[in-house]
Amino acid sequence: MPSVYIKTYGCQMNERDSEAVAAQLVAKGYTLAQSPDAADVVLLNTCSVRDLAEQKALNKMKNVIGTARSERRDQVVGFLGCMAQSRGQELIDRLPDVDLVLGTQKFHRAAEYLDAILAGRRQKVVDVDVEQGSEAAIREHLLHGAAKKSVTAFVSIMQGCNQHCTFCIVPSTRGEERSRSIPGIVAECRELAGQGVSEITLLGQIVTSFGKRDLPVKDGKSAFVQLLEAVHEIDGLERIRFTSPHPKGYGDDLVQAYEHLPKLCESAHIPVQSGSDRLLKLMHRGYTRERFLGIISKLRRARPSIGLSTDIIVGFPGETEEDFEQTLSLVREVEFDQAYIFKYSPRRDTPAASMQDQLPTEVKEDRNARLLEAVNTLAASRYEALVGSQMQILVEGPSRKNPARMTGRSRCNKIVLFDGSDRHRGRLMDVRITRAGSFTLYGDPAIVNL
Ligand code: SAH
Ligand code: F3S
Repeated sequence: MPSVYIKTYGCQMNERDSEAVAAQLVAKGYTLAQSPDAADVVLLNTCSVRDLAEQKALNKMKNVIGTARSERRDQVVGFLGCMAQSRGQELIDRLPDVDLVLGTQKFHRAAEYLDAILAGRRQKVVDVDVEQGSEAAIREHLLHGAAKKSVTAFVSIMQGCNQHCTFCIVPSTRGEERSRSIPGIVAECRELAGQGVSEITLLGQIVTSFGKRDLPVKDGKSAFVQLLEAVHEIDGLERIRFTSPHPKGYGDDLVQAYEHLPKLCESAHIPVQSGSDRLLKLMHRGYTRERFLGIISKLRRARPSIGLSTDIIVGFPGETEEDFEQTLSLVREVEFDQAYIFKYSPRRDTPAASMQDQLPTEVKEDRNARLLEAVNTLAASRYEALVGSQMQILVEGPSRKNPARMTGRSRCNKIVLFDGSDRHRGRLMDVRITRAGSFTLYGDPAIVNL
């Protein structure tokens, strides 16, 4: 049976899509290869959010093709996902060895196309069409065998985004918002819980807009909060997370969900993008700095130990030093536990790409460095402040860097390392934090739930 190697770029949605493709191929008898060299099929699941992500995947593909050629190996190679969607046939025109280009609504057809190519029935396939109902096609999971049970899982609840932030390519690579049904999602989560998964992260580009068009508000609760409540009912499931929400989706119903749903972990990744109202408007974000700060204080009131992270763009067209300082001051005011900073990268067919006053690289670099410095200093002191506290972690497995250590995650989404062994995998246990490192905590099992 053919072996397949899949490499994933970009966000958790892409990770999830790759996993579903892998599961689909394994079910058809394919084996999973650990490196591209020996694989019969190499698939790159791509990201288009920034130019750098596209360049990485293109270079990787050139390398893969070059190696296969020099070793005179017959290898089927393909691009999946966002860059496949936005560039389509152009990818084969540029790299004629590429056999398959599969868009973001076509993941579920990977096996069918690969079979046809491998059997020589088709030479090249480019399929980037829109497909009704494809949001419900990302269902298959690749849970490890009994010896290594998966503890956490991602569940895709919706595809696409209608927000059209002026810098963002996602609405064109992922299409219109399409939500799965609550019963369909609950059934998938229940099945995962039955297989030993304790923590589920609900995924989408803008999860707070889940079901907006299909499900009316009920008892003041949005469709997304209705979904959280339904998932919360599942026996055996211990923890619920979601990513990514949009600030405008934090109504009081969602804040209250943190109060009455104990399985909902006290952590939130809420992209703010900028601290300047002028820029938020140019970005078409749909909220003000004040509204964002209001959400943060409500969430902290509901769950004082909540862990908060965000995304920020520096160097958006026309960003002045003053605008940037507003972002710096917002970061200082909120004291995020983590912030991912991105240098603005013009994306094709987005309004911001043709705005006046594109900033030079040096300005972006400089602001990136200054903001990073502020974020890291503030985050370090927040991590330091947790030393001495006791927290519950869910043990995920051995640490990648040091397999003698186990790694777990706190409810507030901190990585906690401790000296343990494989028997701790999958356990919820309490640890005392003894030390803080860079975006990592070190713990001592205070009370081990044996
Ligand atoms: N809502 C999505 C956002 C995807 S893009 C989510 O689920 O995370 C992830 C982050 O990349 C955005 O929050 C933004 O900070 C950054 N980003 C998006 N487009 C960008 C661009 N053109 N240049 C630089 N950063 C960008
Ligand atoms: Fe992109 Fe804005 Fe949607 S960042 S994914 S258009 S909420």
